[in-house]
Amino acid sequence: MAFDIKEEIKKLKKEKNAIILAHNYQIKEVQEIADVTGDSFELAKIGKEAKEQTIVFCGVRFMAESAAILSPEKKVLLPVEDAGCPLADTIKAENVRALKKTYPGIPVVTYINSSVEVKAESDYCCTSSNAADVVNAIDSDEVIFIPDSNLGSFVQEKTDKKLILWDGHCTVHHRVNVEDILRMKALYEDAFVICHPECRPEVVEVCDVACSTSKMIEEAKKTDKKIVILVTEEGMRHRLEKEVKDKLIVIASPKLMCINMKKTKLQHVYEALALEQTEIKVSEEIREKALIPLKRMLEIGKKKL
Ligand code: 13P
Ligand code: SF4
Repeated sequence: MAFDIKEEIKKLKKEKNAIILAHNYQIKEVQEIADVTGDSFELAKIGKEAKEQTIVFCGVRFMAESAAILSPEKKVLLPVEDAGCPLADTIKAENVRALKKTYPGIPVVTYINSSVEVKAESDYCCTSSNAADVVNAIDSDEVIFIPDSNLGSFVQEKTDKKLILWDGHCTVHHRVNVEDILRMKALYEDAFVICHPECRPEVVEVCDVACSTSKMIEEAKKTDKKIVILVTEEGMRHRLEKEVKDKLIVIASPKLMCINMKKTKLQHVYEALALEQTEIKVSEEIREKALIPLKRMLEIGKKKL
């Protein structure tokens, strides 16, 4: 009998008491085999609440690390060991320590796209959907915001506080320019344009809304327009086509492809389960420190509700 990889994954998943989580940017086949698809923080929370003892995180390293921070009692597996995030890699713990020395007493807000070591040096964490709320909730006129300067500029527009930015970018979203968007708007007249706040500020300016990947689903459902142009990683189209069936979903540019997100194939999901690899291990000392900014972010979210 032929080897049916999807069936084998399903069997192993049961055998190993595992849940498969896939980020919205994963390839279609991986999104389809996953138990849940979502944005980075949403998935880490789902991993924590799940009854399964093993989490297979189809995404990039910082996402699996966030799941490991929240679920120390579980085994977190990243199917492709070197699936990283070039944005998260722009800053190391020693850079954060140096920033804190240069700006003593100024709180550090760190985007979830960062390593566990960087989070451990931070005061608050944020995601692309709550970054402005987190910054505005802090009792300080100045805030160090790391590592994405485009997201930082987006937040700067929504706060009176002075933000000190780190010069990090997402190589994928930063590649897109205003001309790319204007060309698409001319081609698809009367379309609704949704971008990720990791895009350049001048790109955000010509779009209708900037939000996290999961919020994009809500926005695409809400609009009366029949065409939605996405200015984010192309894997998002699959998720939207599934959830918003009555609209045409187009990706703003072929440049919107994250090679790290595309590394995970069904074969890797199978191997991750069969060989229980690659386990993301975080030392308890670092984990406890990294949990503090994440918990503060959750507290701010609760106060807002
Ligand atoms: P979300 O947190 O919105 O899913 O985005 C993650 C990411 O990597 C964006 O490039
Ligand atoms: Fe990192 Fe950008 Fe890829 Fe997201 S799309 S994982 S921020 S490089």
